[in-house]
Amino acid sequence: MPRHLLDIRDLSAAEIDALMNRADDIIAHPRDYADCLRSKKLATLFYEPSTRTRLSFEAAMMELGGQVLGFSSADSSSAAKGESVADTVRTVACYADVIAMRHPKEGAPTAAAQVCPVPIINAGDGGHNHPTQTLADLLTIRREKGKLNQLVIGLCGDLQFGRTVHSLISAMCRYKSIRFVLISPKELRVPDYVREEMQRSHMPFIEVEKLEDVIGTLDILYMTRVQRERFFNEADYVRLKDSYILDVEKMKLARKDLKVLHPLPRVNEISRAVDDDPRACYFRQALYGKMMREALLMKLLEVDA
Ligand code: NCD
Repeated sequence: MPRHLLDIRDLSAAEIDALMNRADDIIAHPRDYADCLRSKKLATLFYEPSTRTRLSFEAAMMELGGQVLGFSSADSSSAAKGESVADTVRTVACYADVIAMRHPKEGAPTAAAQVCPVPIINAGDGGHNHPTQTLADLLTIRREKGKLNQLVIGLCGDLQFGRTVHSLISAMCRYKSIRFVLISPKELRVPDYVREEMQRSHMPFIEVEKLEDVIGTLDILYMTRVQRERFFNEADYVRLKDSYILDVEKMKLARKDLKVLHPLPRVNEISRAVDDDPRACYFRQALYGKMMREALLMKLLEVDA
């Protein structure tokens, strides 16, 4: 059976550490890695829109000397003819050594992995999980704060449908002395299974509605977009979409060593003026995602530098 990455917990904390060390080394010595996946092929099967995740996977593969193939919407694949995801991955496994899949249905990459003879990477499944975004987030926190423990982490926005939040919480539950401050409207609180995971791991957390009340207590502020595509009706989306806007005024209430992350894309939730604040890390975070994907591809393809 190949090794897949479907959930962030598929990797042990020690393996994540090793991936971060590898990514740090790739950042420091990119040339040493230029050929290590030569003759390997990555297929990106994206049934949902994406910029960073798909392109950073593709760029990661190219930077390691590998090649890429794939599709970027369900309409342009045989899904439009009614093919099942299982049949698609069995076919694509004849052409590629590793597959990155994004799908609107929760669990689709897990189901595909049951029949897939090559590693599958979950690149986002519905409102559920997004483990490779979490790898980017963890490297960003480690590089920006120098540690992954003793942190107060605020997660703000759409905590119900935001899959990056669910995977990040799951990952952070393994580190010591973490406290979560969950900032959302009542309707967009974390799902019960995420709350239960925090309780099982004895992670302290509070759930609040106002960002201004807590921003001054945070080491990390992880902003998220309200996930329009997961809402059942447009009226609810319109009512909730601008619940939080991080602007220069609110940044004045924050600590000098706060780090602001966002998986991107942003809509309105961070004003453009905040981009020039040295505490804004989200574009660096997008860059680090590419190096973590490089490290992950090497691991799943069992290639050393
Ligand atoms: C996120 C996603 O797809 O879940 N984007 C990303 O992969 N960087 C966040 C989002 O779409 O809001």
